[in-house]
Amino acid sequence: MKKFITQLFAILILAGSPVWAQTNTIIVNADQSEVVINEHIYGQFAEHLGRGIYGGIWVGPDSEIPNTEGYRTDVLTALQELDIPNVRWPGGCFADEYDWRDGIGPRAERPKRLNTHWGGVIEDNSFGTHEFLRLAELLDAEPYISANVGSGTPAEMQDWIEYMTSDSESTLAEERRANGREEPWKIKFFGIGNESWGCGGNMTADYYADLYRQFQTYAKNYSGNKLFKIASGWSDSQYGWTETLMEKAGRMMDGISLHYYTIAGDDGWFDKGPSMNFGTDWYFGGILAAYRMDEFVTKHSNRMDKYDPNKRVALAVDEWGIWTEELPNTTGGFLEQQNSMRDALIASLSLDILNSHADRVRIANIAQMVNVLQAMILTDGPKMVKTPTYYVFEMYKEHQNAHLLPVHLTSNTYKFEDESSDRKDIGEEFDVISTTVSEKDGVVRLTISNLHPEEAQEVKIDIRGMKVKSIVKGSAEILTADSFDAINTYDDPDNVIISSFDNAKLKNGVLTIKLPKHSIVALSLK
Ligand code: AHR
Repeated sequence: MKKFITQLFAILILAGSPVWAQTNTIIVNADQSEVVINEHIYGQFAEHLGRGIYGGIWVGPDSEIPNTEGYRTDVLTALQELDIPNVRWPGGCFADEYDWRDGIGPRAERPKRLNTHWGGVIEDNSFGTHEFLRLAELLDAEPYISANVGSGTPAEMQDWIEYMTSDSESTLAEERRANGREEPWKIKFFGIGNESWGCGGNMTADYYADLYRQFQTYAKNYSGNKLFKIASGWSDSQYGWTETLMEKAGRMMDGISLHYYTIAGDDGWFDKGPSMNFGTDWYFGGILAAYRMDEFVTKHSNRMDKYDPNKRVALAVDEWGIWTEELPNTTGGFLEQQNSMRDALIASLSLDILNSHADRVRIANIAQMVNVLQAMILTDGPKMVKTPTYYVFEMYKEHQNAHLLPVHLTSNTYKFEDESSDRKDIGEEFDVISTTVSEKDGVVRLTISNLHPEEAQEVKIDIRGMKVKSIVKGSAEILTADSFDAINTYDDPDNVIISSFDNAKLKNGVLTIKLPKHSIVALSLK
């Protein structure tokens, strides 16, 4: 008998049929949801960095590239389809050297500055406050503005807020009107500094906590606007910074940020690895590193619990994504990288982790929206292509504002065992299945990833506490590719795109899905 099974497996392998590993299981307790997935977890980030704004979003009204009021029409249309809830701007590191006055008034008269952080290039300020806030309107997204604490003053910050949000007859409000905007804008999210421990001023936690208290005093609410004030938190694992801020200023903030970038190498920041044409080692390293988001969110949140047990203060993961080596033949400091099927899986896994912490994580922003780091969209002159990561945001958008359903997952694991590799993490392993299950208006939305680089996986999902009768017609979709380093290019833009999926069966409340290797499936149940 044993011999027969072995032969059968051999025949299946030779025939090229996928061999299902041991079944993975998920129990969903659909009647025990306690938290809503805040839509703002699906935020984006647009910094004055490289071609993130100039060329990528903004080409100006006189450009030959088809545009809508100066915004490239192709990019705008693609972004509008993602239901983006908020966009963070103008940085990043750029925010702490930004003088908002440079970016208002007639464009031809705006001063030219050096962008000292990103390539030392000229910033002509043709994209400023009015251009950003119009973009937010066109995207129907809330603006998330990062104020300059590093090199700016509380008075400058206060003036900017009054300029944008006051409906009065003050000189600043009249100046806004003279610059073409009658109605004040509503500004929701307001960051007080960015990475104030690093590019935002190299401050100590105590010093920044004092400055935060001072600056937030002058972050005023005008004309019915209500700012949601976000303090600058740390990256990765510096829990002491979070604790000091919570202790000294926790009651004066609505959120505190956390930055976490996935680095696929095993030697930290200086071992980022390529974004294309890579092997299993860089695939493994990327997924393993992406899993660490869970540890950082959990531990920062635990520190916050000490001063905020009811989780009033949000953790704003306002920079996340994979950061690789820059592409050859691109301008140094522009942070241009390709975006592969692996990166799509890093996005789905990261979103699953952020969703699973929805009680604390209520804002997040992938870095960055266009042409920079893990972008949704890449452009080259008039050409544009949607990345694999774009499609993940499309598949996941239905989770926005849905009830997070608690899941119990039993997953197979993948271990990287290539003896010829000199990676330090050889022998470490990760769960191959990652998922988010949510419910809105009686519809259950499931997104599920198979992170295994080589093997298909079968998953049985037992949905309890709610009667689901069928898979919503046309809702089952898959994102996958021939290889985990597959990318979309201008010549081959549809290499990694969503297609319909028919390998899911629902019987007696149990859904059985067969996922090909390195794939993401989304479907809805009723
Ligand atoms: O997203 C690129 C940079 O990464 C941001 O400007 C900074 O905040 C972070 O270090």
